[in-house]
Amino acid sequence: MSTFLTENVTAVRHWNESLFSFRTTRDQAFRFINGQFVMIGLQVEGKPLMRAYSIASANHEDYLEFFSIKVQEGQLTSRLQHLQVGDPVMISKKPTGTLVLRDLKPGKRLFLFATGTGLAPFMSLVHDPDMYEQFDQVILMHGVRWQSELAYKHYLENELPNNEFLGELVREKLIYYPAVTREPFVHHGRLTKLIRSGELFGHIGQEPLNPEFDRAMICGSPAMLSDTSTLLNEYGFKISPRQGEAGDYVIERAFVEK
Ligand code: A2P
Repeated sequence: MSTFLTENVTAVRHWNESLFSFRTTRDQAFRFINGQFVMIGLQVEGKPLMRAYSIASANHEDYLEFFSIKVQEGQLTSRLQHLQVGDPVMISKKPTGTLVLRDLKPGKRLFLFATGTGLAPFMSLVHDPDMYEQFDQVILMHGVRWQSELAYKHYLENELPNNEFLGELVREKLIYYPAVTREPFVHHGRLTKLIRSGELFGHIGQEPLNPEFDRAMICGSPAMLSDTSTLLNEYGFKISPRQGEAGDYVIERAFVEK
């Protein structure tokens, strides 16, 4: 039996010259936990060329969504960026990953730290009713270089809060906080800086971080993971030691390049 499913592209969206997202059909038997990633790819010269991608859609949807960068010399993304509706995409049958609610201790506020395409797993989680049941407040931070990289901004600000099923919970609990580093923007600077300086808490009208009742998930580049972990450790947060063991926070590398 093949270890891959073949799904078909149902929609493609280009956010700017370097970012795009796409949807595929979903085999009914394909199950995952919101926040997990899976290997996806294409058949290239008769061989599967696969890379890890976080699933950006929620597990109650009948489609799968992925959020990707475009790298012109990238082995896979140079090809993926040309996907058209109807094209086949291979998807491995074994989703996995650490950004799952069950690996967080109970808490009151959940801070989701994302940079770049690290937003993807959180796009799944913001559709998860369990997340809103488990936390009083969810702060979704998305740090990017340029405003044009704030993919899903319009959706998060205007559509999700009016979602038929989740809108009320989202309006009550979700705070979306976009931040830009390389051009002027209302929230300017790296997320780590905006937290350390206290600016972020002033902007959103929330108390500073407190490991007693705050929990966090982090998804970004290796340097961003390292700096954000250091920040949380300084505040006294404890990372989940391994999958299946709850902690104050969990981390995962955003799957970029290639
Ligand atoms: P900066 O513009 O100052 O490098 P990238 O595309 O390199 O992954 O970066 C995405 C966003 O993450 C950028 O705004 C970038 O800021 C920021 N960033 C990069 N490294 C870190 C880090 N170590 N800690 C926090 N934010 C970071």
